[in-house]
Amino acid sequence: MIEVEGLVKTFKDVSAVGGVSFSVKEGEIFAFLGPNGAGKSTTVQMLTTLVRPTSGMARVNGYDVVKREKEVRLSIGVALQETGIDKVLTGRELLVLQGRLFKMSREEAEHRANELLKVVSLTDAADRRSGTYSGGMRRRLDLALTLVHRPTVLFLDEPTTGLDPASRVEIWNEVRRLNREFGTTIFLTTQYLEEADELADRIAIIHHGKIVSEGTPEELKQLVGGETVAMDFSNESEAATVASHFGTTANGTHVAFELRNVTLTEIVRALDEQKLQPERLTVKQPSLDDVFLKVTGESYEGGEIHVD
Ligand SMILES: Nc1ncnc2c1ncn2[C@@H]1O[C@H](COP(=O)(O)OP(=O)(O)OP(=O)(O)O)[C@@H](O)[C@H]1O
Ligand SMILES: [Mg+2]
Repeated sequence: MIEVEGLVKTFKDVSAVGGVSFSVKEGEIFAFLGPNGAGKSTTVQMLTTLVRPTSGMARVNGYDVVKREKEVRLSIGVALQETGIDKVLTGRELLVLQGRLFKMSREEAEHRANELLKVVSLTDAADRRSGTYSGGMRRRLDLALTLVHRPTVLFLDEPTTGLDPASRVEIWNEVRRLNREFGTTIFLTTQYLEEADELADRIAIIHHGKIVSEGTPEELKQLVGGETVAMDFSNESEAATVASHFGTTANGTHVAFELRNVTLTEIVRALDEQKLQPERLTVKQPSLDDVFLKVTGESYEGGEIHVD
């Protein structure tokens, strides 16, 4: 659905995108994860024909983004980072207008608007001016607007930046639903590690205009190792006993090691046999945060928001 080879964009002396290559299969959710200024929006703009690449090649739905602009535009839906929604018109009016722009009859456009209002749960707010919508509602309207002409590929540039955790989860659910129910291929960008982890089948980490790592969330986490278990004991001798049992050394009263050749059950059994009880036992999954640190040597500065 999307094929990209050595795509470059240079603005005067600023290298925004420094040669990225990747491909996205039909029905996949692919995330570009990176901090501010990484080159995410510039990539989206090249793939959606809004910005001309300096060099390299990109095809969307089989069409070259430079030579077949028109065909590309007809097969895609785009929600840009800066939304340009008119505030005076209602959600319904905006959807109908969009349908008319895609040459639908009034009847057809109205029918499609009703359908989409339901898809993004805005039926109740349909006849209010969009200027009165909350940030989350506006993003959902944005999403609906991109879907009017039934695109096969959807580009979402930071669909949840600036939203509160609850609205973010709502958008995640919509994105998943579009992908599952309509088989829409989705390319999204995000600064949130958690968002990429939650939504994407595959993630490319982009940093200073280059892809520094790519894979499924699980593959990326494998890069930094498996799950680790950590235990704290009330005294150092207990910690030392447990550590030596598992072929490691304690750090004061703290023992931590990777769950590689041993299961949690075996650990609990061993503790029980030796009548040792840690004050605290936690299992930690490797996170994309760890991955980012490993592949870039920098810690991640995108605002991580946790959702329970
Ligand atoms: N029109 C432009 N002229 C000059 N430089 C630009 C232009 N557009 C982007 N850049 C630069 O290119 C780099 C990448 O910008 P881009 O907007 O693609 O980043 P981003 O990953 O989308 O960041 P953010 O998360 O903040 O949206 C930045 O250094 C930016 O300043
Ligand atoms: Mg951007």
